[in-house]
Amino acid sequence: MTTQDTAQRPALRSQRLNQITHEPHGKLDALVKTHAPFATQANFARFVVAQYLFQSELVALYNDTELTAIVPDLPDRCRAEAARADLDDLEAELPEPVAGAVKNPTKAEALGWLFVSEGSKLGAAFLIKRAVGLGLSETFGARHLGEPAGGRAEGWKSFVKTLDGLAFTAQEEAEVEKAAVDAFNRFTVLLEQAYAPELA
Ligand code: HEM
Repeated sequence: MTTQDTAQRPALRSQRLNQITHEPHGKLDALVKTHAPFATQANFARFVVAQYLFQSELVALYNDTELTAIVPDLPDRCRAEAARADLDDLEAELPEPVAGAVKNPTKAEALGWLFVSEGSKLGAAFLIKRAVGLGLSETFGARHLGEPAGGRAEGWKSFVKTLDGLAFTAQEEAEVEKAAVDAFNRFTVLLEQAYAPELA
């Protein structure tokens, strides 16, 4: 490894995760925009379908005993129920599960997926403002984008602090990083599925 490589690899795990997911995040953000989720409630409902599918796939992780021992408020952070309620509000059908969900991840892999799911609450601060323009709110139709109990920034900071404080082996380090990228790829698949014409 050259000095330059070392300089480019941040010391904190969360910063390394930010760095390696920067490109997939940018691509996903652009892809979301191509589907104009805030043009109509129907377009937004498709976006919620993707969020619901993604969150549903992570329910087992949010309720995992070993992971909850690391992040005590983990079960409260799950947004699958909120997304399901949003779909009800929007009078959209609950989608069938899509093959290929994460299964039996290791602890480090699970934390990589959760990093992405928790991080997506930051972007949600912007998205909910747009949802308000569609007549929706954190109590109707856009619940899953709402401010988490205890505050958005606070929730993220405490998650990241915990994640950064864990001692990982080199293998776990590789696992958490790969899982974070996998999570972005998965959301992309679910988003495309949610906007697929056959669901119209
Ligand atoms: C499935 C995962 C994610 C999705 C679908 C997602 C989606 C989005 C979208 C669409 C925006 C643009 C909002 C706007 O300006 O209108 C955004 C912004 C943002 N996202 Fe994400 N995001 C995800 C994961 C993450 C993660 C893991 C992080 C942090 C590590 C993050 C941090 C942010 C931040 C800070 C913004 C604000 C604007 C910016 O800096 O680009 N997001 N996100």
